[in-house]
Amino acid sequence: MKVYEKLLLENKAWAKEQVEDDPDFFARLEHLQTPEILWIACSDSRVPADRITGTQPGEIFVHRNIANMVVHTDLNLLSVLQYAVEVLKVKHIIVCGHYGCGGVKAAMSQNSLGIINKWLRNIKDVYRIHKDEVESHKTESEKLNRLIELNIIEQVYNLAKTSIVQSAWKHHQLPHLHGWVYGLNNGIINPIFELEAGSAIDPFYTYDNL
Ligand code: CO
Repeated sequence: MKVYEKLLLENKAWAKEQVEDDPDFFARLEHLQTPEILWIACSDSRVPADRITGTQPGEIFVHRNIANMVVHTDLNLLSVLQYAVEVLKVKHIIVCGHYGCGGVKAAMSQNSLGIINKWLRNIKDVYRIHKDEVESHKTESEKLNRLIELNIIEQVYNLAKTSIVQSAWKHHQLPHLHGWVYGLNNGIINPIFELEAGSAIDPFYTYDNL
């Protein structure tokens, strides 16, 4: 059996199981999407959002990219963010990275990887800002994992710097922002940072006419 054929077989078995457990499962979800959480995470295949959080279809709205970046010119991320905040009115946005992230590791190296250099450049900027702290750690993996944490915090701030989030904070006192890091070695999520709706951010990045 080809690897993709197994996916289709597993899908049939899964759909059957859902209906056996809960006959209204698909009928309920078909016309309604009311997730309270937007989940922004790494594309890494080892970090499946619903599996590691025990959430069901309909519970989290998901955006994934290499190294869970919030890039202010990324039309894809911004479209997801605007829809989640303004239409779905999510209450929480979680940026979830993971220790040992290959994207962050590549950004710390001096290897040219082609077009992905452009993407990783955003992480290099975070590295430059926090270089002293990152370099104060002893081993390469400690340095990498600290940069992964600092990068998460930076991405949470990047959310707060958008007019989308600032406008929602002003008019709805939502969403709250969270920065988490998942451990590939033990499956545990480490919540490292939070920005409650309405938190003060650098005036350099605030808009006053929203
Ligand atoms: Co990663």
